[in-house]
Amino acid sequence: MAISPELRRRFAEARRVLVLTGAGVSAESGVPTFRGGGNTTVWKGMPFDVISSAEMLERNLPAVWEWFDYRRDFMEALMPNPGHYEIAHWQERFPEFTLVTQNIDGLHQKAGSRDVIELHGNIWRARCVACRSTHDMSGTKRPEACLECGDSLRPDVVLFGEFLPPGAFELAAERAATCELCIVIGTSGLVYPAAGLPEIAKSAGAYVCEVNPEPTPLSGICDEVLMGKAGEVLPLLRS
Ligand code: APR
Repeated sequence: MAISPELRRRFAEARRVLVLTGAGVSAESGVPTFRGGGNTTVWKGMPFDVISSAEMLERNLPAVWEWFDYRRDFMEALMPNPGHYEIAHWQERFPEFTLVTQNIDGLHQKAGSRDVIELHGNIWRARCVACRSTHDMSGTKRPEACLECGDSLRPDVVLFGEFLPPGAFELAAERAATCELCIVIGTSGLVYPAAGLPEIAKSAGAYVCEVNPEPTPLSGICDEVLMGKAGEVLPLLRS
């Protein structure tokens, strides 16, 4: 896989860098993607965007918890891969580095990334439907009810039909509008507003590079497309 001299130069000189990741960056850790490879995830006969929806939360919260409990149990043993670790290194390398993820698996943080902008929440947290306080579930059992007010808990994850966490996208868009280098890793670029971030960076004059084994609707706006797996390609960027 050839890295162009242009990308090497930009990578060496950039101060303000934004990275957007999707499910693909966790694929080599064993986390199934939602859409890659032409398949879509199905749970008990329901497509993931049905079981992971605001409508289902209203209708059947226990079923939604069953789906997220299953995923949490599945993810518990999974470890970051070289792609996650490379991105964690970049935090030390670039003076102004922003990591924005659509992933809820917490593997970026497990690899050492800090201040991750989680656009779609985190599977290791529960949130109270009344007082909105959040409860960490990493390494512990899911609390039966809110420890603050006793009301019901829901996954602290953005479900289909719901808004993103307050301020998360606004901060990411602000950083995208001022970055010099934007690297888009392992996302199908089909879900907005996340997929709009590389477009914001591009129109603000940033050099945009995509890392994905498959072409996506974002490939066309990218200055460079590295068609390969994140865990194999990202270490190549290290000079
Ligand atoms: N390295 C890099 N990219 C990969 C790899 C890999 N090893 N394996 C697969 N991919 C790519 C696929 O080609 C695909 O383009 O990752 C992408 C995964 O796409 P999706 O499954 O659609 O995941 P994502 O883009 O993160 O989905 C966005 O949709 O389902 C909702 O909320 C969910 O955050 C998710 C959002």
